[in-house]
Amino acid sequence: MKTPDPIDLLFADMDKLSPGDDSLSLYVLRSLPQHRFDVVVDAGCGAGRQTLVLANELKTPIHAVDCYQPFLDRLIQRAKEKGLAQLVRTHCMDMQGIPSVFPSIDLLWAEGAAYNVGFANALTTWAKAIKPQGFAVVSELCWLREDTIPDAVKEFFRSGYPQMQSVEQNIATAEAAGYELFNTCTLPRETWVKEYYDILEPRAKSLINHPDVAIRGFAVETLKEIETFKISGDSYGYVFYVLQRSN
Ligand SMILES: C[S@@+](CC[C@H](N)C(=O)[O-])C[C@H]1O[C@@H](n2cnc3c(N)ncnc32)[C@H](O)[C@@H]1O
Repeated sequence: MKTPDPIDLLFADMDKLSPGDDSLSLYVLRSLPQHRFDVVVDAGCGAGRQTLVLANELKTPIHAVDCYQPFLDRLIQRAKEKGLAQLVRTHCMDMQGIPSVFPSIDLLWAEGAAYNVGFANALTTWAKAIKPQGFAVVSELCWLREDTIPDAVKEFFRSGYPQMQSVEQNIATAEAAGYELFNTCTLPRETWVKEYYDILEPRAKSLINHPDVAIRGFAVETLKEIETFKISGDSYGYVFYVLQRSN
């Protein structure tokens, strides 16, 4: 029998594949100064929690981009269940290829996904395709209080995400990539726990003695990440950068 993919096992049937929640996505979406967007792309959409929020609120087609077809299949299924299937277009592709498929974007949304190709690289790549005055809404893991980072937290991210920057550094990165900052919004702690870590933690615990080494390793890494979050003392978090493409 084929060994299951660790990602399929750990994230099975989950709506959220990163910190966040529907009401916060909606709050950030409604903070934008306009509400009509012709071309909307959700980069690294995963199972599409935020895709469905965008579709339901904007009532316009959302191009949902992800490189993992099983997540897109779940999104299609959930869109059907919610009566939103006609507004969701899925594209199984690398998010770095977005400019060649969508050369003229009004709103680019990316929750918990840009880090996969590097925050700076993602913003620079997408800037080519976002219309002047168009918007990019991108959430990114970052340092919130660099004076008081517990040593174990520093150690975890030294290997886990060495490119992690402060909010100020990320804003400078966005400006250098051709955007103006419209707003930021930090995700509350409960958006990490509810329907995310509270599902992942017991699952990962149940998999730490799995016969497959890759699955055991993924479970251990996940538990380490959750322990790091518990002792973080708010030294890091996820922040939405609401950006407007400069002329
Ligand atoms: C942490 S998940 C976040 C998913 C979703 N936005 C959410 O918040 O629930 C990151 C997603 O990015 C996708 N991904 C990773 N690298 C990618 C790439 N180069 N191009 C497209 N999608 C990618 C993964 O398959 C995964 O679905």
